[in-house]
Amino acid sequence: MNTEVLVDVKHLTHQFHLTKKAAIRAVDDISFQIYKGEVFGLVGESGSGKSTVARCLMNIYHPSAGEIRYHGIEITGKKEFRANKKMLQTKRQMIFQDSASSLNQRMKVAEIIAEPMKINHIVPPRGSYAREAEFQMQYVGMDKTFLERYPSELSGGQRQRVAIARALSMDPELLVADEPVASLDVSIQAQVINLFRHLQKEHGFTFLFIAHDLAMVEYLCDRVGVMYHGKMVELGTTREVFSNPQHEYTKTLLSAIPIPDPVQERQRKVKIYVDTDSDAEEWKENSPGHFVLKRQEGGKKSAKE
Ligand SMILES: Nc1ncnc2c1ncn2[C@@H]1O[C@H](COP(=O)(O)OP(=O)(O)OP(=O)(O)O)[C@@H](O)[C@H]1O
Ligand SMILES: [Mg+2]
Repeated sequence: MNTEVLVDVKHLTHQFHLTKKAAIRAVDDISFQIYKGEVFGLVGESGSGKSTVARCLMNIYHPSAGEIRYHGIEITGKKEFRANKKMLQTKRQMIFQDSASSLNQRMKVAEIIAEPMKINHIVPPRGSYAREAEFQMQYVGMDKTFLERYPSELSGGQRQRVAIARALSMDPELLVADEPVASLDVSIQAQVINLFRHLQKEHGFTFLFIAHDLAMVEYLCDRVGVMYHGKMVELGTTREVFSNPQHEYTKTLLSAIPIPDPVQERQRKVKIYVDTDSDAEEWKENSPGHFVLKRQEGGKKSAKE
């Protein structure tokens, strides 16, 4: 595996201030790296902080603490971000769950795809914006007749393909996809996931893939980080985490995947993981490259008792 670091996240924390006194710690002191060219998955239950991490990585949110380096550049520093803004805006692209609302309803598909190139003054590699849009459409498996349509005239799966085509027109180095197929029908989900897999292999972009569906993560990702209540509780190669989960929450998550055999499915017991005192846990390397948040021996909790 190529271990050249593209994104280096250290002690990332993000709080949302609800009122002057109340705040939610959506992301709580997490550290991980994304290697160049890999598919990195982020999983975890709803509200665990996955989207907040992605948004911090994309400079949509400014983290409350910690640092994020992209190619070694500290992008959370305002000065450094400004100095590298153009590179960061072109090299990193994001796809959201609900592409219908992220596409400009008043633009035709051809204009939607060409828009980021125009904004960033990128000379279209295939000669014109129209030719570029046509190429990207075919690349994501859509007929060029759709170029003249508006988003409202497309299905959810088609709109998501347009969002992918738009992101790919920038020839990204990093693609962040936050639950990109969650709003689609199951049959279309598989098509879009296969499309991602194919495009990533061909393009070689680094891919941060956020999903609820563990089967998708297992199929697509080289490595996976598991989040729970704003913490990263486990991190490792997908194979290692799926075959040898260490953290109780990961075990619970994996045990919730339905087993195809109905007899086995009925016999098993799904355990519910209940958080204890996460402050008394520490990040440990269980085996090379496989990290887990473990209860500290003689940690805070037992010290209090
Ligand atoms: N803009 C916001 N203002 C206040 N709280 C927020 C905001 N966005 C997220 N949160 C809170 O931060 C926590 C993490 O949210 P986040 O959206 O990152 O979770 P998630 O893992 O992406 O969940 P999901 O799987 O449902 O998309 C949640 O408790 C959420 O309610
Ligand atoms: Mg989310």
